[in-house]
Amino acid sequence: VNATPATIGLGIVGLGRATALMLLAFQASPHAAVVAGADPRPAAREAFRSTFGGTPYASAEELCADRAVDAVVIATPPELHARQVAVAAAAGKHVLVEKPMAPTLAECDRMIAAAAEAGVHLLVGHTLAYSPAIRAIAHAVAAGQFGRLGSILSLYYTDYVYRPRRPADLVPGTGQGIVLNQLPHVVDCIRLIAGGVVESVAAAALWEWDPDRPVPGAGSAFLRLPAGAAAQVVYSGYDRFDSVVWTFGVDELGYRVAHEPGASRRRLREVAASGGSEGDVLESKRFGGGAGGAGDPADRQPQPGVLLVSCEHADLRPSEDGVAVFAAGGVEHRRIAQPHWPAGRTDVLRALYDAVVHDRACVHDGAWGKATVEVCLAIESAARGGGEVVLRAQRPPATPVTPPTFVDETGSEVSA
Ligand SMILES: NC(=O)c1ccc[n+]([C@@H]2O[C@H](COP(=O)([O-])OP(=O)(O)OC[C@H]3O[C@@H](n4cnc5c(N)ncnc54)[C@H](O)[C@@H]3O)[C@@H](O)[C@H]2O)c1
Repeated sequence: VNATPATIGLGIVGLGRATALMLLAFQASPHAAVVAGADPRPAAREAFRSTFGGTPYASAEELCADRAVDAVVIATPPELHARQVAVAAAAGKHVLVEKPMAPTLAECDRMIAAAAEAGVHLLVGHTLAYSPAIRAIAHAVAAGQFGRLGSILSLYYTDYVYRPRRPADLVPGTGQGIVLNQLPHVVDCIRLIAGGVVESVAAAALWEWDPDRPVPGAGSAFLRLPAGAAAQVVYSGYDRFDSVVWTFGVDELGYRVAHEPGASRRRLREVAASGGSEGDVLESKRFGGGAGGAGDPADRQPQPGVLLVSCEHADLRPSEDGVAVFAAGGVEHRRIAQPHWPAGRTDVLRALYDAVVHDRACVHDGAWGKATVEVCLAIESAARGGGEVVLRAQRPPATPVTPPTFVDETGSEVSA
């Protein structure tokens, strides 16, 4: 008799910022044990050894040959995702790849084919869309609790442009602006709430407002959804207005933050003025770097900007600890049992465990991840004068979205 394994062995490829953000989830997950880590940077490997006690490797290839690894988490820059997924799949490993799945649809297709050929699961780690409040809203909309979906409004203002970057990320044309870095979060939440399908990007605009950082840092888009519904997206990463002003002072990780317009921009200038390099600041935010330790868990739920979902009979938005439902009769607060970080991130690992151990289908599979990349690239194309872009790779989730557990004021469970 084969006992169900309590945990799966994880190998992490890419021990950078994304891994620092997942650290608490890796440590808190009852479903996964980190047994190996790969990164070309010796400092990252050293930090890995002291944090996890697992085996450090210099390359994805070596890590994928480790028999203790059941599934590989790929958290490297997006241009490496397709090749590394192929390496992992060929070694018979299941794969969780960070968002964005890949920079092109052709690469997404190759990743899906590689996983199918090897008979392994491929998941895309859209951590924000796994947040309990987003799943709660998606579940309520899918169940038709408030009638048909009409509109989704996303207003997301951050300091994204002034977060420390690799020099390559600031090269005009090939650098990483919001399109494949920040919009995947927004688009994935919208797709989850709307049932997976965006019919077209009807109109879009992208702006580069700082010649010293010449990548798209702000944008706007109008997405057509099925049955006459629509979504409007505004994103700005220029460190001026910040949507935390409208989200209880809580940021996208669930931390309470002070709003200081221009503070991130000033910090980078000060680093340069004192002869420091942006690369050093980035390094300090990576796994094993100064600020890259686990830190304290956030005690609020993540706030993905302002997100307002309007159905025939109610408007819904994430509240401080759950979902607020605004209807003709007043406001109903639906409290979520464990809304705070790293809730969404441990749920990503739960989905991976269920896929590996129980062969269970998941929402964020390869075809889903590709569909999110398709929307982001279509926003870019519409903004560059391509006119309305009709989408072809959209699809509903392969399995229903599971709602979180709701509680009353005393903490007792209530049904959704
Ligand atoms: N879900 C989230 O909230 C979230 C947050 C941050 C980043 N991300 C995503 O994670 C990915 C990585 O971004 P990041 O910000 O962590 O970048 P990063 O530069 O901080 O980290 C990337 C790491 O990969 C390593 N690396 C480079 N080449 C490698 C190779 N060939 N083999 C193994 N390791 C290699 C680098 O040394 C570095 O440590 C991106 O796809 C990004 O969009 C997701």
